[in-house]
Amino acid sequence: IGRNAIKEGYVGAIIVAGGQGTRLGFPHPKGCFPITKVKKKSLFQLVTEKMLACGNRVQKQLHMAIMTSQDNDFETNKFFKDNAYFGAKEEQVQFFCQPNLPFLSSEGNLLLKSKSTIAEGPDGNGSTLSAFIKSSLFSKWNMLGIRYALFTLIDNPLADPFDEELVGRLIQGKCDCVIKAIERKSHDEKVGLIVQEEGKTKVIEYTEFPDALKLQREGDELLFKAANISLFCLSMGFIERIGSQSLPLHKSWKQADLLGPTEIWKFERFIFDMLPFAKNIDTVMYPRDICFSPLKNAFGEGSPETAQNDLIRS
Ligand code: UTP
Repeated sequence: IGRNAIKEGYVGAIIVAGGQGTRLGFPHPKGCFPITKVKKKSLFQLVTEKMLACGNRVQKQLHMAIMTSQDNDFETNKFFKDNAYFGAKEEQVQFFCQPNLPFLSSEGNLLLKSKSTIAEGPDGNGSTLSAFIKSSLFSKWNMLGIRYALFTLIDNPLADPFDEELVGRLIQGKCDCVIKAIERKSHDEKVGLIVQEEGKTKVIEYTEFPDALKLQREGDELLFKAANISLFCLSMGFIERIGSQSLPLHKSWKQADLLGPTEIWKFERFIFDMLPFAKNIDTVMYPRDICFSPLKNAFGEGSPETAQNDLIRS
């Protein structure tokens, strides 16, 4: 069912790539990071080639919308242009840009990045759907007849931007949203937990989840075992409904290099806060090794080394 929908041109891919990638410490947009071991293909090249491969399989020109931020929009666009869109047509790869929010000091004051600019940063991947609706891409996709959107993070090289199983599941279940989830590795893994609260499916960040519940078991297994890896299939109707909502802000206390190193409050929206607005959600559990290997850190877990090894193995 999913493959037929892709073949009919009903499916588009939304790739979010607006983050600052602070932990990785790569001085360019994270999507430009050379992730494959031998050919040194970037994350952007990988995701584009997956779109092209799927397009070849179904004999249809597919479309992808990439979210950038004010910090990396220019460089991301240039990277695609300089690399001739990695073989795609320019019209297949389009960009929309998310807004910034100011950083605040511990006293709640604005800060300066330079003598004439206020310090600010992208407002989190939770603004994807509202930024998408506000951009011209939403109506373009409607005109193309796109009915379903797959949501993918650029920093998970194992993700499939045209995941036919997820699309099929959404259509079959007449859902607003299907979540592709994996099992938590351990009680202290730093992932959001998928839970049901008062009949609603939602994600609670690990930082906000009570420790006692993280540890709770049912037999041999963790009671709350579904980890959110932010892979979703969404209906365009749901996107239209949710795109006008303002998702809540989460604050985090972070290091920043402004006029010298300092600590700041950063405010971000998270995409999973859209879930309680969905009328009908399905969650599908997958084996981790075929769909999740995030590139977050320069070394250790979630680093180029682990992502490369997982890519080779997958
Ligand atoms: P993360 O929350 O892991 O952030 O983003 P990050 O920017 O990649 O890395 P750190 O935290 O600064 O080290 C998860 C995904 O959401 C996107 C990122 O590009 C990545 O694909 N994202 C994040 C945005 O598109 N916009 C944002 O404002 C934040």
